[in-house]
Amino acid sequence: MDLIRRPRRLRNGELIRNLVKETRLDVENLIYPLFVVEGTNVKKEIKSLPGNYHYSVDRVNEEIGELHDLGIKYVMLFGIPENKDAFGSEAYSSNGVVQRAIKRIKEVFDDIYIITDICMCQYTEHGHCGILCENGYVDNDETLKYLGKIAISHVEAGADMVAPSDMMDGRIGYIRRTLDEAGYVNTPIMSYSAKYVSAYYGPFREAAHSAPSFGDRKAYQMDPANSREALIEAELDIKEGADILMVKPALAYLDVIRRFKDSFNVPIAAYSVSGEYSMLKLALQNGLFKEDIILETTTSIKRAGADIIITYFAKDIARMLKEGR
Ligand code: PBG
Ligand code: ZN
Repeated sequence: MDLIRRPRRLRNGELIRNLVKETRLDVENLIYPLFVVEGTNVKKEIKSLPGNYHYSVDRVNEEIGELHDLGIKYVMLFGIPENKDAFGSEAYSSNGVVQRAIKRIKEVFDDIYIITDICMCQYTEHGHCGILCENGYVDNDETLKYLGKIAISHVEAGADMVAPSDMMDGRIGYIRRTLDEAGYVNTPIMSYSAKYVSAYYGPFREAAHSAPSFGDRKAYQMDPANSREALIEAELDIKEGADILMVKPALAYLDVIRRFKDSFNVPIAAYSVSGEYSMLKLALQNGLFKEDIILETTTSIKRAGADIIITYFAKDIARMLKEGR
């Protein structure tokens, strides 16, 4: 055969394969989501997210220490408060569970970067991501004021970056102005720009006790059928001052990640959400796959265009990379 092009030449041996590899996972691009709860001496496995735990503030540094040893330096904190009310007041209390956790981590670790989720759903008694009007609609502009307060309270406690996940219009601009006016001009905002209404959040809502008590989130989160709309959201976020854009979920939205990557010159993050994790984790526990499925799947998210990946598999990935896999 006189074949001039033989793509298999570059697959013939591990050394040459490694030389031409286009996409590599790196522990420095991973963010691990972490849940903190009220109470003391709590380390409790989250049923819906096997291998992930609820920690009380006094024990949170056990997990941070483990992450640190694995080289994972970036965490995304979620709080689960004791008490919920109509205004989500524990979300912006200086004594809230997230605020105390941030302080506790920063007391011990000076090289852990803390990102916080800015939203109200864990904190409101109705479980929606903002303040409700009488008819049950989430009041956009009223909610912004609360998001601003939450962001300030996190940054005052020591958060390094904030990540609003509420999907209100104008939130990035509002939070940017609020932070700037308080002097926090160098605190970056990672926007959940394209956050879809997704069944893949199921295990998280169980973990964070944040399911809406009525209705759904379709009047603020995005329709899974749309991707042009994601570009509008992203353009607005950039204009309003977002430093990093996020797509969420990741696996079912790889095309949106790629569109963001090709359209915007800012770092792109992807949140591989709870359902993506648990789906694979349960299949792994049942022996359907080998662990390398974690690397393949996460690599696909990076290949699609994600510079940064938020994943519950961060520890498994860090370990496997250390083992040279
Ligand atoms: C809160 C929030 C959610 C997630 C992150 N922030 C849930 C939701 O919108 O219902 C989901 C994360 C996951 O599934 O891992 N707004
Ligand atoms: Zn929310």
